[in-house]
Amino acid sequence: MINPFYGRDIISIRDFSKLDLEYLFRMSDKIQKLSHDELKGLAPGKLLGTLFFEPSTRTRLSFEAAMLSIGGGTVSIVEARTTSIEKGENLNDTVKTVESYVDIMVLRHHMEGAARFAAQITQKPVINGGSGIEEHPTQAMLDIYTLLKLRGRITNLKIAVIGDLKYGRTVYSLLYGLANFNPQIFLVSPPDLMVRDEALIDLEGKAKLSQHENIEEIIHDVDAIYVTRIQKERLPDPLEYEKVKGSYVIDNKLLSKGREDLMVLHPLPRATEIKSEVDKTPNAKYFIQAQYGKIVRAALISLMLNEQPPN
Ligand code: NCD
Repeated sequence: MINPFYGRDIISIRDFSKLDLEYLFRMSDKIQKLSHDELKGLAPGKLLGTLFFEPSTRTRLSFEAAMLSIGGGTVSIVEARTTSIEKGENLNDTVKTVESYVDIMVLRHHMEGAARFAAQITQKPVINGGSGIEEHPTQAMLDIYTLLKLRGRITNLKIAVIGDLKYGRTVYSLLYGLANFNPQIFLVSPPDLMVRDEALIDLEGKAKLSQHENIEEIIHDVDAIYVTRIQKERLPDPLEYEKVKGSYVIDNKLLSKGREDLMVLHPLPRATEIKSEVDKTPNAKYFIQAQYGKIVRAALISLMLNEQPPN
């Protein structure tokens, strides 16, 4: 199969097929078997620019750690206030400047469409590291890889997606990505934070979906729960947050109603939606999920930069 990621932008997970995602997962498996020197040979002398206009821990650091692990280097904007953006420079000029320094860039921005815009104005490949409430495709890639590694398969899984389904961008990429693998998805949220209609329309006929308010209705029946943070900073009114905060709290009592091998996933950061007591249970998979982030991102960058990946 021809490397479907070579030279491409990663803006929406919808731009990639089931076969493309499986190709990435095979590469993710492969790079874990490479020697230190083989790994360093994947991107020698290449530079990754991380342009982050919103806070991040895992996404930025895992991208940077991934690039270093495959022999490349990184330059970063982590705080727009320390750059010429503070002087009024626009995104166009920032991207046009950074493109002359780097081989590939990751952009996180509060505006929907920002990553697509950046990709259109630069020849260098752009990865969407989160675009407003729209999408976060590489998060979904690592989420689905985690399911594959920990459950042994992706097809025909039953997954509950819980929390802020309206503003959580990881939710949209996950739903669109999972739709390739015939899932049954239970969407659990307060009525004010239900998934946006655009996704329901898009997913029609591609995934079995049902909407719920109560986790207890469905917890006994699922392979995994994917818990999300209420996106406080994206709610239009602080009073809205007061209404929905603490809507869902995953604790050991709730988990006892699920299957013994129920997986608890979360893109992190968490606020109060998963109690720390859950961390000690074998069900807690969110830190392993974050570890897979570095591996999947290293595989992805390697594929974007090398037409012929290693055998
Ligand atoms: C998420 C994000 O930024 O969309 N975090 C992440 O990248 N792992 C989720 C969130 O902020 O709640």
